[in-house]
Amino acid sequence: MAESISDQYAVIGNPIAHSQSPKIHALFAEQTEQDLTYSAVLAPKDDFPRTLAELMSQGFKGMNVTVPFKQDAFAAAHELSINAERAGAVNTLTIDPNGTIHADNTDGIGLVRDLIVNHEVDLAGKRILVLGAGGAVRGVLSPILHEQPELVHIANRTEAKADALVDVMSDIGYVASSGFDNIPKHAFDIVINGTAASLAGDMPEIPSVCAQKAECCYDMMYSVQPTVFQAWANELGVNKSLDGLGMLVEQAAYSFQLWRTVRPDSQAVYHYLREWLRQQKS
Ligand code: ATR
Repeated sequence: MAESISDQYAVIGNPIAHSQSPKIHALFAEQTEQDLTYSAVLAPKDDFPRTLAELMSQGFKGMNVTVPFKQDAFAAAHELSINAERAGAVNTLTIDPNGTIHADNTDGIGLVRDLIVNHEVDLAGKRILVLGAGGAVRGVLSPILHEQPELVHIANRTEAKADALVDVMSDIGYVASSGFDNIPKHAFDIVINGTAASLAGDMPEIPSVCAQKAECCYDMMYSVQPTVFQAWANELGVNKSLDGLGMLVEQAAYSFQLWRTVRPDSQAVYHYLREWLRQQKS
C-alpha cells in the first residue's frame, strides 16, 4: 500500500532564514490537529516561477509568498481574490489538484483583525494616516478602507507614489495623499507605518502633531526591541503603540483557514511568539 504523506505547504522568499512562518503554521497545525508540513524555501531573486513550478510538481498544496516575490506571485496566479486584485500583490497561493493557482492577499485583513479584535481599535469613522506607498501599504489599503474610516491620508517620501495609490483606491473611500513635508498638520486617530524605514532604524519625518492625540500608532514591522516608530509614538504619549507581530500571526491564520477551512487560535500563537521574542533580547 502506498505510504500516505502529509499535505505540504511552504513560504517562499529571499532571504527566508529569518521567517517565523514555519513556526507559526506548525503551531496552528498542532492546535487544530491537521496533518501537514510547512517549510521555508529560498527562491533565486530572478526565478520565482521555477521555484513555484518545482513545488507544484512535488504536490505542494499551498504557499505563502514574502519579499520580494509578492508581485511575481500575482503574475503567476490563475485566479485572484478581490483583495489580491486590489493589492496587485499576493501572499497566499492555493493549488488545486488540477494545477489551478488561486491567489489571495491576507496581509490587510490580518492587520485589520489585529487592530479591531486584538487591540480594540475600531477604524470606522476614524482619521487614519498611513506612512509609505510601497507593496506593504498597497496590500493593506483596501481592507482598511472597507472598515469605513472618515479618511485615509497616505504620505510617502516619494509623493508621486502616494498619489498613484489614491487613484487606485479612491472608489472605496475617501483617500488623500502627500509627501512627508506637506502632511496636513492636524491630529489623526490612527497612524500606521508601512515604510521600510524601521528596517534601517530610521524614522519618517512627520510632524508630531499628527500623532500626539492618536489613539493608536501601529508599525507594520516588528523586532526584538520596539521599533524607532514605536519609540517615537511612546515619547509622544500614545497609549497604544503597537508593532506588526500581531499582523504577522493574523495574516498567517487567514492563510491557514483558506487552506484547511479551520480557524486556528491566533492569540495563543501570538503570545508564544511574543515571549520567544522577549527571550531573544536577553
Ligand atoms: P515594501 O514591500 O516593504 O513596501 P517597497 O515597495 O520597496 O517595499 O516600499 C518601501 C516603502 O518604504 C516606500 O514607501 C519607501 O518610500 P519611497 O517610495 O520614497 O522609496 C519607504 N521607505 C524606505 N526607506 C525609507 C526611509 N528611510 N524613510 C522613509 N521612507 C522609506
